[in-house]
Amino acid sequence: VPPARPGGLPLDLSDLLEERGRVDPRIYVDPEVYELEQERVFGRSWLFLAHESQLKRPGDFVTTYMGEDPIIVSRQDDGSVAAFLNQCRHRGMRLTQADAGHAKVFTCTFHGWTYDRGGRLSSVRDEREIYRCPVDRDRWSAVRVPRVESFLGFIFGSWDEHAPSFRDSLGDAAWYLEPHLDGLGGTEVLGVTKWTVHCNWKLGAEQFGSDGYHFGMTHLSALKALMTQVPGAPRSFQEASPPPDGGRQLKNAQGHGLMAVPFIPNTLRGTRPVFAPKVNAWLDGPRHDFLVRKYGETRASVFVPACNMFPNVGFLPVVNALRVWQPKGPEQMEIWSYVIADADAPEDVKQAIRLGSQRSFGAAGIFEQDDTHVWTEIQRVLRGRRARRELFNLEMDSGTCEDVEARFPGTTANRTFSEVAARAFYRRWASLVSTEVPHER
Ligand code: FES
Ligand code: FE
Repeated sequence: VPPARPGGLPLDLSDLLEERGRVDPRIYVDPEVYELEQERVFGRSWLFLAHESQLKRPGDFVTTYMGEDPIIVSRQDDGSVAAFLNQCRHRGMRLTQADAGHAKVFTCTFHGWTYDRGGRLSSVRDEREIYRCPVDRDRWSAVRVPRVESFLGFIFGSWDEHAPSFRDSLGDAAWYLEPHLDGLGGTEVLGVTKWTVHCNWKLGAEQFGSDGYHFGMTHLSALKALMTQVPGAPRSFQEASPPPDGGRQLKNAQGHGLMAVPFIPNTLRGTRPVFAPKVNAWLDGPRHDFLVRKYGETRASVFVPACNMFPNVGFLPVVNALRVWQPKGPEQMEIWSYVIADADAPEDVKQAIRLGSQRSFGAAGIFEQDDTHVWTEIQRVLRGRRARRELFNLEMDSGTCEDVEARFPGTTANRTFSEVAARAFYRRWASLVSTEVPHER
């Protein structure tokens, strides 16, 4: 008989809960862990749904997922945004198969039940003639997501009616992330691309939130190509690599991970020639001035090259890319990548941002391919029965570098290269996975 574990867990998560820097890789493959994660992590965290710019007029909608639950996000007549399960209450057919569109109503293609823009059941086809009994509209409306909040144009939803606001749930990370999610005239999505990667979603989340260490190895060939092919690009690896010192890595109780540098150094700016010089001119000029006016010099200058908003939103301000790690079973995810820009940026700057972002971190981007290669190989190695019994090492900076500096809020490691954020991510994940969700939720 296997030993009893809290919350019906199939494996011991105490290494993660106590931040001992050891990871049992079965958390990337075990179907039981995956099911618990769907219920206990995705069932009560704030999850990215859509951006305001995708829902300009009443009736505009996009479809997405909260965990594996399909969701319709729809602009209402009063300007608010509603989110509800993309599932007919009659026999469970998907209400719309479109990625995005404009709709007065959603009519199920199985038997024709129809729902309004807010998900309310509005008509039942041939109700009098065929049903011969009234169908209770309230009882059989689509299931609404109880919490929907817009933060600087980014719309998040949660199944947890009692969750703190999205901004409060960022904790210390809000100070760093707010200026990066803000934009002159607001922000705008310039395009969305989606692709499948055969690995567990946490591999992406952990890396974006914490792993600066891989950059100079995983991406070495892409960096070399950039150095030789692109005018104005850094000419040596030392010049291109993010500085190991002078930066910080946040240890956040809510599990958000980020690296921060006190200013955008030329070494980091050097990766931006995948864009055009006009992009740097925009970022250093009008955008920077706007941020200084709104947030002050310090917050406007602290730069976050990469981060992960717990659980599954990766954000790379260095190439204007936000992405959602959509779980599709324990060993597969889809990356949904959104190119973000200031709404008031000139059209030629937006175009250059869109191309640069796609060329670097789009589905076939020169850096993106490096990362997805590593993640899928890790996952393939874990098909081995023996391989999945060996713990992974997450010990960098253990107990040595965490401290507090007035300039940087929160507890941080005093360098960019660290694993404190990864340990915080897994601690938050493990504490949610080990705690049952109250029944009423
Ligand atoms: Fe939708 Fe029957 S399943 S109308
Ligand atoms: Fe990478």
